[in-house]
Amino acid sequence: MPDASALPAAPLSAPAAALRVLVLGATGTIGQATVRALLRQGHQVSCLVRPHAGPGGRLAADATARLLPGATLRWGDVTDPAALARDGLAGERFDALVSCLASRTGVPADAWAIDHQAHLHALAAAQQAGVRQMVLLSAICVQKPLLAFQQAKLAFERALMAGGLTWSIVRPTAFFKSLSGQVARVQQGRPFLLFGDGALTACKPISDDDLGDYLAGCLTDPARHDRILPVGGPGPAITPRQQGELLFRLAGRPPRFKQVPVALLDAIVAVLGTAGRLVPALAAKAELARIGRYYATESMLVWDAAAGRYDADATPSFGSRTLADHADLLAGRTTTERGDHAVF
Ligand SMILES: NC(=O)c1ccc[n+]([C@@H]2O[C@H](COP(=O)([O-])OP(=O)(O)OC[C@H]3O[C@@H](n4cnc5c(N)ncnc54)[C@H](OP(=O)(O)O)[C@@H]3O)[C@@H](O)[C@H]2O)c1
Repeated sequence: MPDASALPAAPLSAPAAALRVLVLGATGTIGQATVRALLRQGHQVSCLVRPHAGPGGRLAADATARLLPGATLRWGDVTDPAALARDGLAGERFDALVSCLASRTGVPADAWAIDHQAHLHALAAAQQAGVRQMVLLSAICVQKPLLAFQQAKLAFERALMAGGLTWSIVRPTAFFKSLSGQVARVQQGRPFLLFGDGALTACKPISDDDLGDYLAGCLTDPARHDRILPVGGPGPAITPRQQGELLFRLAGRPPRFKQVPVALLDAIVAVLGTAGRLVPALAAKAELARIGRYYATESMLVWDAAAGRYDADATPSFGSRTLADHADLLAGRTTTERGDHAVF
């Protein structure tokens, strides 16, 4: 599988020719950042969005429009096989499809419906309309797929690679918002939660805007074409304990941690897994527990299968914003879009 080892910076000036780009998942955290980046890079951006967007469908049309200034909004349902052609492309010429679409829950049925099936419909419509390029937001964790949503993402990655379009599959490490639940705890004077000793995992968090720039830059940087692109933010990999120490330093408080044994997560997964075989509603909760356990024990770094370990040095860095200089962190503004995806 092709992979990226060195990442040139995204072009900062407008491209010679503005591209016409249709964006899916524009209302999500990274979708919004990607639309901003596409517009900054000089492209014409249309977004296919649903009438009630946002976590829990709380955004009405006017609120959605305020999230995406400068983009043209088109309304439709990505789960409808005909929607992309009819409501999104609408018979016009587009150069590229950029997708930040992702299940908001991560539970299996939703993941297969959105991360896989809706993307297959979108790819088919793009092929039919002569769209030449697609950029996909995926996730670094699909390199070690143990969860249903990772299998759903991988299945679409394979379809995209075989689909005849120029493709870029971007697999980022952790987003800044993955810390947002802990920010709220620290703000409330509660301890930072750690699994094990807080050094079981590490990641290179990437800011929304840096990731948006990276995704948008895939359109015009040939070095990112037809490649799987793991990407993290700048600086060294950090463990959850180091993230906690940073948060307390920013808050001007002495660090306080509460350690949760991984064995407790294992027990929760086992109990819910058994109960889920009898009560369907608990099956979804069991999958959420498995997702939680995965992130408590697996690093968001490039996996070296031969060595059987995660490799921070092999995880490419991009962008300029680190958690340490992210002023919004303690102001709580990273928490706003956490929504239904709270386990991430
Ligand atoms: N969190 C992390 O640290 C992390 C790290 C690496 C990779 N990732 C990956 O990044 C992706 C999540 O990105 P994000 O945080 O930007 O996602 P997000 O904020 O949850 O946004 C998801 C987007 O998909 C759309 N969507 C979901 N279900 C839909 C449906 N049924 N119909 C129409 N649209 C739907 C949402 O639209 P609505 O507004 O209409 O709901 C929204 O635009 C996931 O693939 C995840 O695996 C996450």
